[in-house]
Amino acid sequence: MNARDSEKIAGTLERIGYQIVEKEDADFVLYNTCTVRENANLKVYGNLGHLNKSKRKNPHMMIALCGCMMQEDAVVERIQKNYKYVDIIFGTHNIYKLAELIQARLDSKSMIVDIWKEAKEIVEDLPSERKFKYKAGVNIMYGCNNFCTYCIVPYVRGRERSREIKDIVREIEGLVADGVVEIMLLGQNVNSYGRHGLEEKTTFAELLKEVEKIEGLKRIRFMTPHPKDFSDDVIEVMKNSTKICKHVHLPVQSGSSEILRKMNRHYTKEAYLDLVSRVKAAIPDVGLTTDIIVGFPGETEENFEDTLDVVRKVGYEASFNFIYSKRSGTPAATMENQVPEDVIHERFNRLLETVHETSTVENAKHQGTIQDVLVESVNTHEEGFVSGRLSNNLLVHFKGTEDMIGTIVNVRLDEAKGFYYIGEIV
Ligand code: 5AD
Ligand code: SF4
Repeated sequence: MNARDSEKIAGTLERIGYQIVEKEDADFVLYNTCTVRENANLKVYGNLGHLNKSKRKNPHMMIALCGCMMQEDAVVERIQKNYKYVDIIFGTHNIYKLAELIQARLDSKSMIVDIWKEAKEIVEDLPSERKFKYKAGVNIMYGCNNFCTYCIVPYVRGRERSREIKDIVREIEGLVADGVVEIMLLGQNVNSYGRHGLEEKTTFAELLKEVEKIEGLKRIRFMTPHPKDFSDDVIEVMKNSTKICKHVHLPVQSGSSEILRKMNRHYTKEAYLDLVSRVKAAIPDVGLTTDIIVGFPGETEENFEDTLDVVRKVGYEASFNFIYSKRSGTPAATMENQVPEDVIHERFNRLLETVHETSTVENAKHQGTIQDVLVESVNTHEEGFVSGRLSNNLLVHFKGTEDMIGTIVNVRLDEAKGFYYIGEIV
């Protein structure tokens, strides 16, 4: 979601005459911040400290901060007090105002702060500087209504609101005309698409059917579905589709029904495993990935064992593992029985080992098969090689040339290497 916002920000800046450089000694430095875990916040303060020195050398330099972290009052107060050399602060709901905010800063002598608590409307057709020519992310909804007890997102991204199907389809048609072959439909909980903010309610399954019809589009991905809302309709649409990739990122967060209840996730271990069985039965060869939090308040050894059990039973391709981070303002931050750090680290290492063992076995299952691969980039480690992605999201490296990027080729998967394959075009 943030990466997609960054493309809109870059697009706006280019439109008003800026040139993008990846260095912090630029005349204009902007941080699009994350706040989902505390480490992300700490990085921003660290970077701001360094920027102070650059700004002393280059007094015309401007510093802007935006993104989720800026939606927190305490953060903005701290920046106003301790980092007075910041020029512009804005939030997640008013990205489209950036050009105006820069002008306001040039016209005045003081820091410009413009944070909205809620979005007033969805602003369509922002300029966008896309990172990749052949693939693109497309927002289908904004915000989140789920209030998982560890999560700051509902407080910084506001309530759920969906875009109209016709606006989404129009955007994708434009992208396809511009050379895009793969799109990623983006939302905090894509399975509740269509419930809020539309003139007429609709569903994610309906949206998928409409997107499937777009001529020239080759691959459809989506992120992130919430297990509690994953409907059989969506499974059915995936089963019958020729474009939706055989990959589901399905965050489990914990394998313990007790912890899941405390997390306010609205599913049990059994319901999650049942959903996984239904997805696997309908879509053979589907690749599953997940997010897991270790050390949620009150997590016992037995609760953690349940998480390992789910990892073994599902056989994930990969898992994004997070140490629980206390986000002030969320209900979990004040829960009793916060788990000691050494216990969390010991569990975290055991989780990594288990994921590694199970995913190595799972990922090797495709060895010897021939698969459609979208070529994504030139391989930087091995000369004469390119890297591409299978429908199930696994990476494969094989001999190829730069002009293949953005095309779909047939590759035989020769050698399973854990998280990737070495293959050959056939
Ligand atoms: N601590 C650790 N991980 C978190 N996530 C969200 N909030 C927290 C937190 N407070 C993780 C979840 C989510 C992913 C994007 O970030 O696993 O799915
Ligand atoms: Fe956070 Fe839960 Fe919403 Fe995901 S569904 S953004 S974890 S509150």
